[in-house]
Amino acid sequence: MDLGLNGKVAVVSGGSSGIGLAITRDLVREGATVSIAGRDAGRLAKARDEIAADLGAEVGTRVLDLRDTGAARAWVDDTAAEHGAVNIVVSNAGGPPAGPTGAFGPDGYRDAVDLGMISHIGFVQAALPHLQRAGWGRILIVASETIRDIIPKYALSAIARSGLAAYAKTLVHELGPGDVTVNVLAPGYTATDALLSGLDGDVEAETVRIAEQADIPLGRVARPEEVAAAGTFLLSARASFVTGTVQVVDGGRSLGM
Ligand SMILES: NC(=O)c1ccc[n+]([C@@H]2O[C@H](COP(=O)([O-])OP(=O)(O)OC[C@H]3O[C@@H](n4cnc5c(N)ncnc54)[C@H](OP(=O)(O)O)[C@@H]3O)[C@@H](O)[C@H]2O)c1
Repeated sequence: MDLGLNGKVAVVSGGSSGIGLAITRDLVREGATVSIAGRDAGRLAKARDEIAADLGAEVGTRVLDLRDTGAARAWVDDTAAEHGAVNIVVSNAGGPPAGPTGAFGPDGYRDAVDLGMISHIGFVQAALPHLQRAGWGRILIVASETIRDIIPKYALSAIARSGLAAYAKTLVHELGPGDVTVNVLAPGYTATDALLSGLDGDVEAETVRIAEQADIPLGRVARPEEVAAAGTFLLSARASFVTGTVQVVDGGRSLGM
């Protein structure tokens, strides 16, 4: 299937690892020009070198913290100046710490909202004029299945990110007619650094235990590529009439409609 992404220009924050890296690889395979950003220069360089070795393509890299909206804006502007346009925005970063509501005070909530909601909105706002100027644009905000189906031990995730779905839905109406869409990707348990780094011993066995405890009908956690595949479709020309949606990819775990 031709996804119609050849020649498009994409910026992927959190593109050095996990779901963001898997989406980046998809976009590169489809012929898009991609720039990735994250806080750690070494992680970015490793991702860039692996993509060059595996796919024979050069991705751009930018060291930044997505909470710094000025830095995000400069990155998007520079990418547009270098490549003539920006068409695709993947707004992805880290998640807040796990814990029930009482585990955090007001500062913990502020931090979570700053990273989990405001940083994404700032990034999208910075990129939007470029997408509209290009006349073809795709925005994908990576959130979590917790915005569809609460997981009590991930209180901050649901609370801080729920606004992203409201933002995307509201933005759809402001974008109006044309070929610029905005969607939210809501992953469930996925075998990335975010999930695996906290595990001890037999990591494979631990992910099976997580899947059992979470009662995931497919009986396992996701591979990042499986989450990315849904996201990449939403970024494609094929998804031209899909906008304002929340796409859950969780092996059937969530029960919310
Ligand atoms: N894995 C799961 O089970 C799961 C489930 C539900 C939702 N999610 C969500 O999916 C998103 C992606 O997670 P992942 O699993 O792919 O994690 P990951 O493998 O740890 O990747 C996170 C990426 O985001 C970057 N990043 C983190 N904080 C950032 C910041 N403040 N500014 C810019 N870049 C930042 C990281 O690079 P640096 O650290 O170098 O900045 C890295 O490239 C997260 O929001 C996560 O909460 C994951």
